[in-house]
Amino acid sequence: MKVSLIVAVSENQVIGKNNDLVWHLPHDMNYFKKTTEAHHVIMGRKNFESIPHKYRPLPNRTNVIVTRQDSYQAEGCIVVSSIIEALEKAKEAGDAEPFVIGGGEIYRHALENGLIDRVYLTRVHENFEGDTFFPILDSEWKCIRSIKKSADEKHFCDFTYEIYEK
Ligand SMILES: NC(=O)c1ccc[n+]([C@@H]2O[C@H](COP(=O)([O-])OP(=O)(O)OC[C@H]3O[C@@H](n4cnc5c(N)ncnc54)[C@H](OP(=O)(O)O)[C@@H]3O)[C@@H](O)[C@H]2O)c1
Repeated sequence: MKVSLIVAVSENQVIGKNNDLVWHLPHDMNYFKKTTEAHHVIMGRKNFESIPHKYRPLPNRTNVIVTRQDSYQAEGCIVVSSIIEALEKAKEAGDAEPFVIGGGEIYRHALENGLIDRVYLTRVHENFEGDTFFPILDSEWKCIRSIKKSADEKHFCDFTYEIYEK
C-alpha cells in the first residue's frame, strides 16, 4: 500500500481560512475528485465539518474521520482516533492508495511521522491571507511530475499540479 496526501497550497503556504477554503478552482476540484475516487479519504474532524452538508460524506469514496472525541459519529463515515488507525482500515479493505486529505493538523502530523509516500500538491500561484498552512516539503521530497495550467475565465490565476515522492 502506498499512502498519498493531496493538497492545494498558495505561494505563501496557505491552505485555509476560518475553516474554509480560500479560492475556487473548479479544475482542481475535479482533479481532487478523480484522483481520490474509489479510495479511502482520511480527514481531520474540522476538515470534514468544513465540507457543505450536501457534499458529505464525499461520494464514491470511503470517508474516514480522525478525532480525539470518543463518541463522535457521522453518518456514512468511519470514525477513528488516529491516522495510523485510519491507515489500518484502508489496508484491511485492500485499498492500494489511501489519501490523507487534510486539514492542516492532519497533514502536519502525517508528514512529521513519515506516514506519507507521495504528495499530490496543487500550487496555486497567488499569495493569500489565511490561518491554516501546509509545511514546506524538505529536500528529500523530489518533484516527479509538474503540469502547469493557465488562468482562464473560470480560473482566476495560474496553478500547477505537482507530484512529489521521496
Ligand atoms: N487547501 C487544501 O487542500 C485543504 C484541504 C483540506 C482542508 N483544508 C483547510 O484546512 C482547514 C482545516 O484544518 P485544521 O488544521 O484546522 O483541522 P483538521 O486537520 O481538519 O482537523 C483537526 C482535528 O482533527 C483531529 N485530530 C488532529 N490530529 C489528531 C490526532 N493526531 N489524533 C486524533 N485526532 C486528531 C482533532 O479533532 P477533534 O477536535 O474532534 O478531536 C482536531 O481538532 C480548513 O480551513 C480547510 O478548508 C484545505
